Amino acid sequence: MITPSRHLLPSKLPNVGTTIFTVMSRLAQDTGAINLSQGFPSFDCSPDLVALVEKYLRKGANQYAPMAGVPALREALAHKTLAAYGVSYDPETEITVTSGATEALYAAVAAVVRPGDEVLVFEPAYDSYVPAVELNGGSPVFVTLTPPDYLIDWEEVRSKVTDRTRLIMVNTPHNPTGRVWTTDDLNQLADIVQDKPIWVVSDEVYEHILFEGRTHHSLMTHPVLRERTFICGSFGKTFHITGWKIGYCLAPAGLTTEFRKVHQFLTFSTVTPMQYALADFLSVPEHYESLPAFYERKRNLFLDSISGSRFRFKPAEGSFFQILSYAGITDEPDYDLAIRLTKEIGIASVPVSVFYQQRNDYQLLRFCFAKDDELLLRAGERLSRL
Ligand SMILES: Cc1ncc(COP(=O)(O)O)c(C=O)c1O
Repeated sequence: MITPSRHLLPSKLPNVGTTIFTVMSRLAQDTGAINLSQGFPSFDCSPDLVALVEKYLRKGANQYAPMAGVPALREALAHKTLAAYGVSYDPETEITVTSGATEALYAAVAAVVRPGDEVLVFEPAYDSYVPAVELNGGSPVFVTLTPPDYLIDWEEVRSKVTDRTRLIMVNTPHNPTGRVWTTDDLNQLADIVQDKPIWVVSDEVYEHILFEGRTHHSLMTHPVLRERTFICGSFGKTFHITGWKIGYCLAPAGLTTEFRKVHQFLTFSTVTPMQYALADFLSVPEHYESLPAFYERKRNLFLDSISGSRFRFKPAEGSFFQILSYAGITDEPDYDLAIRLTKEIGIASVPVSVFYQQRNDYQLLRFCFAKDDELLLRAGERLSRL
């Protein structure tokens, strides 16, 4: 007789449950709280971008796009990358449009990692990296960064590189800490991977959100790194269209060949009319060059609104997240406090411990400030009452 237990599917990801982002967003919805937890704007994208999509929908751009992406969008990406970073990528062989950066990250990891490989992951880390590594048989090896500066101890990184290290995951500007890599970080990484069979996946989805005039040092700008890095980007964060799930991967031809082998069986291609619209929209630099000032003002508005509170913080250098320390307010675990604040004062945030493998609790909460001014001010006012 077949017992029910024989039908239980052994999990390939036993440690993965419902993500905190889903939990907090659902709780925010149920309680009517202001949702500063998940990383998406509360405001709409440009009406011009919507009009472009409509134009291409009506023009009949409604069938499968080419596997690598619509040529016009790959060309626009090549132009933008050259203009913004002075680095050339061939749209034909080195640029692939994906279904969000999430797909790009997964396809890059899958293209590199084999069973038994080790992958260096800096934590706190965005939640998709480790499952991608594990589904491909790899083992994450963590380099733990700590508040308030989250600086990388490069000697520790060196000590964790072994013959089995095959990949290093990078994220700059960083979610959740807002830290931005320096040229020294790039040089240190290049020094470590040079002459070794180690590849790099660089998650640069916040490439256009940096403050106080900081420069985004994309890994593509270092020649040693350019040759071995999959740069993963997203239009979601840049153009306020997280729901479109359109991203891209820039990588040298040899890496792109392998990347596309995964991509074509993961999704094959990405939604067509939006790609045409983005190609047009991307050709106007103002659309992404205005982003630092736009988000710096929102970050400052939020921080000013809590300046009289008992929260402590180091202003984010980039991204649209701000970490606040509540050490001067309560001893509660960060997870419990995030839930309590949602229910009691109507502010949803994310406990920073969820970004650490061992759930390190430094008494920190992450707040997304990609929200309407009025929401940020109301949130600041409620947080100041604590
Ligand atoms: C660091 C980081 N990488 C990747 C993503 C996912 O990007 P996309 O929505 O384009 O898949 C996010 C979204 O929050 C993110 O914060």
